[in-house]
Amino acid sequence: MRKQIAAANWKMNLTLQQGELLVEELLKSTHDLNENQQVVFAVPFPYLVNVKKMLAGNNHVFVAAQNCYNKVSGAYTGEVSAEILKSIAVDYVVLGHSERREYFNESNEMLAEKINICIEYGLKPIFCCGEALEIREAGTQNSFVENQIKESLFHLSAEQLFGFVIAYEPIWAIGTGKTASSEQAQEIHAYIRSVLASKYGNEVADSISILYGGSVKAANAKEIFGQPDVDGGLVGGASLMAAEFAAIIKSLK
Ligand code: PGA
Repeated sequence: MRKQIAAANWKMNLTLQQGELLVEELLKSTHDLNENQQVVFAVPFPYLVNVKKMLAGNNHVFVAAQNCYNKVSGAYTGEVSAEILKSIAVDYVVLGHSERREYFNESNEMLAEKINICIEYGLKPIFCCGEALEIREAGTQNSFVENQIKESLFHLSAEQLFGFVIAYEPIWAIGTGKTASSEQAQEIHAYIRSVLASKYGNEVADSISILYGGSVKAANAKEIFGQPDVDGGLVGGASLMAAEFAAIIKSLK
């Protein structure tokens, strides 16, 4: 069975002290996770080592970087490589978040390179996709997201894609308080899975966790995560509040 994942995306928020308190509090909510359920903390680079240490001995909770560079190593001042992340035992890397695509011009091709490097170093990508409001209004969201997936993932082998994690995040729902309805989420998640099945077959497509992101909160998580093709969420704002994120963790299937 594919993993059900509650991933916290802190973005550029919280001090180290605030972040450690939050993780400490939330770890109390992870004791009854079953073997299919995971919690991931995507934290700022400088906190990765500390947060990873706090997770020692917990088999259901993982740490993620929010990005990594698309080169293996070298003279790229200020950048962080997959090899560096691996050397501090990072588990996941969020790639292609819409904020990175928008503010840092990350293209599907560049993301394909980042994915390759992460896989080479044994890091698990959480690949983000999702359409802007104009695309949703024009009704072309399925083909837009399909193209993002094809251009960044379709060069991978079935073996590399088995158990992969994708986050579908409609840009119009990120940080806006406007969530996709559970029907809208299910519809496009099922479409994404069908696109994956058409190239890789049902077994691979069914192994892939497809998270929903965009204004997930305690009040809507259960309904969204309850959809058959929604395997948890990538959560921004609500992941910064212990009680909210604890309730989101409890909403995992
Ligand atoms: P949000 O962010 O939950 O604050 O909408 C989600 C994300 O950007 O991953």
